[in-house]
This record gives sequence, C-alpha cells and structure tokens, in this order.
Amino acid sequence: MRLDKFLVDCGLGSRTEVKQLLKKKIVTVNGAVQHSPKLQIDSDADVVAVDGRILTHEDFVYYLLNKPQGVISATEDKVHRTVLDLLDDIARHKQVFPVGRLDIDTEGLLLLTNNGLLAHAMLSPKKHVDKRYLAHVSGLMDVDDVLAFEKGISLSDHDCQPAILEVLELHPEHKSCQVEIVIREGKFHQVKRMVAARGKKVVALKRLSMGPLQLDSQLKTGAWRRLTTQETQLLEQFGVPL
Ligand code: URA
Repeated sequence: MRLDKFLVDCGLGSRTEVKQLLKKKIVTVNGAVQHSPKLQIDSDADVVAVDGRILTHEDFVYYLLNKPQGVISATEDKVHRTVLDLLDDIARHKQVFPVGRLDIDTEGLLLLTNNGLLAHAMLSPKKHVDKRYLAHVSGLMDVDDVLAFEKGISLSDHDCQPAILEVLELHPEHKSCQVEIVIREGKFHQVKRMVAARGKKVVALKRLSMGPLQLDSQLKTGAWRRLTTQETQLLEQFGVPL
C-alpha cells in the first residue's frame, strides 16, 4: 500500500496532514527517511516509524464504549449525536459501527468495530450471545415474573426465548425494584417490552455485558477505550478472523 495511506490508517491524520509529516523528514521505512507519499510499502513486512516510534497497521479495531443516554447507536443522524461522535478520528476513519443497538435512553456496554464478520457472528441468533442488563423498574417484580421470564414471554409480534430475571432490590415504599435480566436475543425494545408484558415499566436500563465482554467499571458514562488483548482473545470464540 502507499505510505500515506498506511500513515492515515495508523491514525496520524488526514492525507494532507500526513504529507506535512513526510515533508518534515521524520518518517522512516526500515530505518531510512522517506518523504514520498506514493512510496509503496508492505504493511506486514516493512517497519515504519515516526519520530522513532514504530507504527503497527491494524485492519480491524475494537472499541468498548460506556454509552450514555441521549446518543443513538448509529453512525450518522441528522438530529441526534451518535455513538461515533463520542469516539476518535481513527474510529471514524476506520468506519467502525456499533455491534447491535441500544435505545437512545439506554446506557452501558456497546462494542464498536469495523469487523463485519465479527458483528455478524455476535448478532446471529444461532450464537445465543447473552446480553445482561441492569434495570430500574417501576412496580414490584416477583417470583411469578421470574417464572414467566424462564418460560418465555410472549410479545405481540414475537415469542421470546427463555430469559433470566433476578430481583436484586425491592423498594416497596416506592413501588419499584432493581433487577438483572439476561436475554439471548436482541429484538426492538426487547427488555422494556418483556417487563411491560408483566405489567411493570423499565425506567432506566444499562447493559452490563455482551457475550464475553463486561462493562468496565473504570469507564465513566460516555467514555471509551480500545479492547485489551485479553478481551480481543475472548472474541476468538466466534470463529472469525480478528
Ligand atoms: N432492550 C431494550 O428494551 N432496550 C435496549 O436498549 C436494549 C435491550
């Protein structure tokens, strides 16, 4: 590939910006200073460095976002801010997209990547990827609700697969409770509709995990980080190139 494309891919700026870097004569390929943006390099074999710092070319990138309320799980939107607006230029340049959706008012774990095969595998109903949510519910959920979730809730357009409902805290004085819900599907508004089918209402929802990925408690709402090597290794179970 061309040297300027390699540098852009590594997040060093736009094509124009990396041309300026090349002019400064601080880019080396295999130890020799290079200034031509058109130079053809082998991204696997050649060692490219800027100011002595060796660059590694990544095809796929993986971002873990603690999605805040008020942004939508899309890559562009005319009205609302999107999750992509919260990430960095590399994410936008690499055209990452969210793996599945969270509602505008749902917070929590969202994986974003440009690895389409991985997204497809994680969202495939056949893979049964668990999604764990913490919900604040108006109304008191009880053992009958737990059993109904276990049996499979029927929605107007879909019979849900068995799901796990655990009541964590009951607040009878406020007629509310805190519950954890694990589902394996990802239908539109699924958790809210399952709770509504039991005559209660989700007032706040946060995703805690998706498959092997857990929400990082260090990650403030709205903050993101790249997946760690260990987390990326956990994604190997989906059997696609990473
Ligand atoms: N279920 C919902 O109802 N909303 C979400 O954002 C995710 C799961």
